[in-house]
Amino acid sequence: PSILVINGPNLNLLGTREPAVYGTATLDDVVRLAADTARERGCSTTAMQSNHEGEIIDVIHAARSTSDGIVINAGAFTHTSIAIRDALTGVGLPVVEVHISNVHRREGFRHHSYISGVADTVIVGAGIDGYRLAVDHLARRLVMAAD
Ligand code: DQA
Repeated sequence: PSILVINGPNLNLLGTREPAVYGTATLDDVVRLAADTARERGCSTTAMQSNHEGEIIDVIHAARSTSDGIVINAGAFTHTSIAIRDALTGVGLPVVEVHISNVHRREGFRHHSYISGVADTVIVGAGIDGYRLAVDHLARRLVMAAD
């Protein structure tokens, strides 16, 4: 099974962006962690990061024919994008939503997620370990479903 890992806006700045909130690991570290975790479960990953909403939507559409599940940290689009939500619903793949920080302990505008209502699983506040948890969980599910 193949897992698409999507990181949205500003996550390319991981490591230097508000380290008190997001830690010091970089996006490369996240991508490597996701790939290593998937491999341990007999799965593969494809990772993409974009600061552009439409690009993320295009990648979700393409996943229909290339991936078996999606791990997504949509960054601030989480709180604004009905279009990304609709794309996820449209392709019908299992979705795990990840947030590095505990969005519920932060500003009120981060408390609502358009993604959560269409995600199978939501992981918040675990730091970048959330990506390991997300990929491990999704990989286990996909391998089980493939058996
Ligand atoms: C985030 C939380 C969002 O509110 C924020 O806009 C981000 C990162 C997180 O991973 O904690 O860009 O998704």
